[in-house]
Amino acid sequence: MRPWSERAPLFEAIAAYQSQTVGRFHVPGHKARPEAFGPGASYYQGLLPLDVTELRGLDDLHHPEEAIHEAQQLAADCFGAEETFFLVNGSTVGNQAMIAAVCRPGDLLLVQRDAHKSVIHGLMLAGAHAVFVHPRIDERTGLRGGIALEDVEEALRLYPQAKGLLLTCPSYYGIGPDLESIAELLHARHKCLLVDEAHGAHYGFHPELPGSALSCGADAVVQSTHKMLTALTMGSMLHVQGQRVSREILRRILGMLQSSSPSYPIMASLDLSRRYLQEQGTGAITSALAVLESWRSGIARRPRWSLARISGPYRSDPFKQLLYDAAGKLNGYELQAKLEESGCYAEMADAGYVVLAFSLVSRLEEVHHLLEALDRIAQQEQPDDASRPSSGYAAEATGIRQGASFRERISQPVPFSIASIHGQTASRLVPLDSCEGHMAAEMIVPYPPGIPLLYPGERITPQIAADLRLLAGSGARFQGHNVTELGTIPVRSSQLAEQETFE
Ligand SMILES: Cc1ncc(COP(=O)(O)O)c(C=O)c1O
Repeated sequence: MRPWSERAPLFEAIAAYQSQTVGRFHVPGHKARPEAFGPGASYYQGLLPLDVTELRGLDDLHHPEEAIHEAQQLAADCFGAEETFFLVNGSTVGNQAMIAAVCRPGDLLLVQRDAHKSVIHGLMLAGAHAVFVHPRIDERTGLRGGIALEDVEEALRLYPQAKGLLLTCPSYYGIGPDLESIAELLHARHKCLLVDEAHGAHYGFHPELPGSALSCGADAVVQSTHKMLTALTMGSMLHVQGQRVSREILRRILGMLQSSSPSYPIMASLDLSRRYLQEQGTGAITSALAVLESWRSGIARRPRWSLARISGPYRSDPFKQLLYDAAGKLNGYELQAKLEESGCYAEMADAGYVVLAFSLVSRLEEVHHLLEALDRIAQQEQPDDASRPSSGYAAEATGIRQGASFRERISQPVPFSIASIHGQTASRLVPLDSCEGHMAAEMIVPYPPGIPLLYPGERITPQIAADLRLLAGSGARFQGHNVTELGTIPVRSSQLAEQETFE
């Protein structure tokens, strides 16, 4: 038998099925015939043979015994978990499942405030109560470092009934706190640590990368294998170790939340992504780090552009590069748009920075294209005397998106429920200019990064209102209620707002 690192059992099982099949009398209805895809035929034709269903030998994600079982076990060995679940609906479904596995309705969970919206949705689905712990903001860059150990300690003192803590590490910007001490603290109090490591599936696979959340002691960890590794979009994994999070409950919840027809192309890509990481990972990451070195030295030779780097006790991902206009002429959104005109598409922008996501397969020629594009932009967009000064503006602008406006360190318990979606809470729209003091009726989510600036029931402080106006003024995109386009905020009707004050 070949070494385990060369095997990709699920992909191999599909390839074997493909080589022996002469008639497809099963779903999906496209029958692997590209002509059904019209103008997309040539794009899809290589992928269609992989798009199969639960046939003999191809196993069943909801009752894995063969190829999927083996692929998940290989993934668990590779990532250092005791058990790994493949996810076909991204880290989104992993976050929801983790919360529901740990919290019964009414249970309390400590949650990092700048969590992804899937965490808020998970709290709603579980009917859990959250105590939000706010991340520390780095004054110099405006970037969020992560939650501090002493804040977790204080939250546990105030709320000893908490089931555990769910935190995000690394952030969309590739930054996170030291997880080991947080895990030790929680475990000493018999609480669990759940980590949304959506942006850190590559962590721990090279000495120059931070260690993974599992290696730091987390009990359950969600990773978007599709973000920083090489799986197809939506391909993600949920890893578990120890006994603090029930795997049986997780299995049952994932059985409810994931499709009964999970995508084989996505699952096989998880298998192949793990295989690539094991076989080529260290060498590929070393090459990618050399590409990044060229990028950083290219920027160092161009005083017009700068890269932000957070200081302090935080762990940073070298694959996330935070670019800004040191002359202060272009804000993050404007710079992102200019780069797109040159065919260079960044992961996201905020008012201060453009976030560039590299990965273990990034190439030097892309860096050259990017530097050339920046040279062109620098020529076209000469700073004038009226430009903002270089220092501080990116930090200040970014601080808004990073949640600098959440002043309190530890919130009161906030009850979440699915009821808010059913319109049981009457709402109305108020103009952005006069939204202070009202209670949000829905999540307000600048996107990316998908971190709700307001959750349903949250009181709109003057600071949050000011941040919303600034975001709308700088052209931020919102998911759901589009504050930039509409200039309004959905708020709870005053009578209900008073009854349902959470804070
Ligand atoms: C921190 C974080 N968690 C979870 C998610 C959801 O991940 P997915 O897109 O894999 O569902 C995202 C998506 O951007 C994210 O940024």
